[in-house]
Amino acid sequence: MAGEVPNGASARVAELRQLIEYHNERYHVLDAPEIPDADYDLLVRELKEVEAQYPSLVTPDSPTQTVGAPPLGLFQPVRHRVPMMSLDNAFEEVELRAWAERLRRQLPDLDLGHLDFSSEPKVDGVAMSLTYEHGRFTQAATRGDGVTGEDVTANVATIKSVPKALDPRTGPFPALLEIRGEIYFSLADFDAMNKRQEAAGLKLFVNPRNAAAGALRQKDPAVTATRPLSFWAYQVGEVEGAPKGSHWPAATQSGTLGLLKKAGFPVSADARLVTGIEAVIARCIELARERHALVYEIDGVVTKVDDLALHRQLGATSRAPRWAIAFKFPPEERTSRLLDIEVSIGRTGRATPFGRMEPVFVGGSTVEMATLHNEDQVRLKDVRPGDIVIVRKAGDVIPEIVGPVLSGPGVPKRRRPPWKFPTTCPSCGQPLLRLEGESDTYCTNIDCPMQRVQRIVHYASRSAMDIEGLGEERVFQLVAAGLIVDPADLYALTVPQLSELERFAAISAANLVAGIAASTAQPLSRLLVGLGIRHLGPTGARAVARGLGTLDAIMAATEEELAAVEGIGPVIAASIAEFLALPTNQAVVERLRAAGVTTEEPGAPGGAGASEGAGGGGVTGGPAQTLEGLTVVVTGGVPGFTREEAEEAILARGGKSPGSVSKKTFALVVGDAPGASKLKKAEELGIPMVPAEAFATLLESGSLPE
Ligand code: IVH
Repeated sequence: MAGEVPNGASARVAELRQLIEYHNERYHVLDAPEIPDADYDLLVRELKEVEAQYPSLVTPDSPTQTVGAPPLGLFQPVRHRVPMMSLDNAFEEVELRAWAERLRRQLPDLDLGHLDFSSEPKVDGVAMSLTYEHGRFTQAATRGDGVTGEDVTANVATIKSVPKALDPRTGPFPALLEIRGEIYFSLADFDAMNKRQEAAGLKLFVNPRNAAAGALRQKDPAVTATRPLSFWAYQVGEVEGAPKGSHWPAATQSGTLGLLKKAGFPVSADARLVTGIEAVIARCIELARERHALVYEIDGVVTKVDDLALHRQLGATSRAPRWAIAFKFPPEERTSRLLDIEVSIGRTGRATPFGRMEPVFVGGSTVEMATLHNEDQVRLKDVRPGDIVIVRKAGDVIPEIVGPVLSGPGVPKRRRPPWKFPTTCPSCGQPLLRLEGESDTYCTNIDCPMQRVQRIVHYASRSAMDIEGLGEERVFQLVAAGLIVDPADLYALTVPQLSELERFAAISAANLVAGIAASTAQPLSRLLVGLGIRHLGPTGARAVARGLGTLDAIMAATEEELAAVEGIGPVIAASIAEFLALPTNQAVVERLRAAGVTTEEPGAPGGAGASEGAGGGGVTGGPAQTLEGLTVVVTGGVPGFTREEAEEAILARGGKSPGSVSKKTFALVVGDAPGASKLKKAEELGIPMVPAEAFATLLESGSLPE
């Protein structure tokens, strides 16, 4: 039954279409999207849902039935003889299963469990059609509305990775061969370009996709040539006049990728041929987890039926093929209202502006504060209190404000004036200083209470002395009460002293004092991290501690001797020497030593447990070197450990823990939701797999569980 369409539904459909068309133009034509992709996807989803409920509302020009937007007309139009389509999206595992179910219904004779799929990263860039005539590059065109795109040949010709002639090994060539793929910025190239923009005081690019689209739409190809664009091929479009014996087109998608590579195109190294929908899902989950380890930005995974003969059977809707689906990752960018901009003071005195926002769920957690990095970034991004802003949280990276949303629904008509960087420190009231040619602003008052707080918070942090329950709030309270000034004071704190403070129950006082006492057992490398020496992170600290063995040896070493330690460069060496030369720092170190902190690195020459004959070296907190020289790789979640902690635990026992399995791997620890590629590699190489429950035993014994 068709059923009546309520007025509300048709009005909402009209509104949604207007909004989507508006944002389509901003994104596809003007290269200036106003809202994050995730917000756009929500609009499309809602429209699809209403249309599914009231099919009579579907019209051929609805954005659910069309692709992109017609071009602006800056370049010559190019008609695609094979339309450049879009992809249907799946946001959840169940939607991937529903897609498989639709395939099964269309192909009832097929054994879905054994169906091959090509699973490819969905790189976030600009779709491009490249024409090769008799193997020579002749034209590049954008997707446009899928039927008509724009001729950007001159610009694309400047991209080094686009072959101008195909490798003759893949000949003889068809008279006309169309290759499709994506033009994008690698993250390193994008960051470097934005640094150059910042140095020149120019507007920053919001994201790699936008920057790529902007670079392609330059009227002067010389400008495009200065932008380090990359290309990936992932499809063959039109093929005309293929001579006898031609390799083009291939019979499968995976075969196409192989052929494209042989012809000289870059293809993704992360594409996989997988069998069955379960493997498709596993690969999507794996790439979602690894997305931040990749050198380019991806926003999902494209899965395609591998057999191209089946593509013809499955066909397409008006906007997307039925043989492919894009699994979109959870959003890492959302919008929120910026309530105010404040400045925080770090342990080195650096004053960092940050936004306080209405809470928003992004990148897997609720975010209320996000960094704005420095004064210039606030100005270049032009974000002001009261604005609607785009908030980005990618993986473990600190959430940041990308920029304001300046028009569209819900955006205030009038903006507040630009925000001004404060001239005095919000903590101590002393003047803030920004040196010529530097982007950071500093509070230079060494007695600034906030700097003190942050130095102690850093000392107690996870990667340093790991003192539980000693976060910013607690440290602030202790500094304000005059109980501590530097990390060495922590060891003099007593339970009665703490119990007198507000919000300090006797039990938490006792726990904190115990936690502080326990930290004396941390190895020297942790102590070095805790001291907050510039440039010295956990890896460098381990290198010096292992190399020289004791605090005494490090303090006695010259800058040259420090630089001679394996893994320590001249910059870190100079920084350590400079830090330890300062009498105030020496005094803190001596007081820490007097408080009983460990000043040796277990397993290092001269350190405790170095060898039987080392004289015992006293009791230190370092664990036995059970994994000395062994490589243990971890995949998936191990109960009781974060990924970092599991790796730390391996390193602390003398082992190595790289991110991938090789023939040198001693064991693969398999936790919750393990990575399919690591499992496969371990299986291929016959590497022993240890279940997560046996991880503790492996650490303790250094041998494989029975
Ligand atoms: S296949 C008809 N493969 O995603 C399907 N597209 O939302 C044609 N994209 O327009 C596209 N990586 O710009 C395909 N490995 C990949 C892709 C990919 C990114 C983009 C492409 C396409 C859009 C669809």
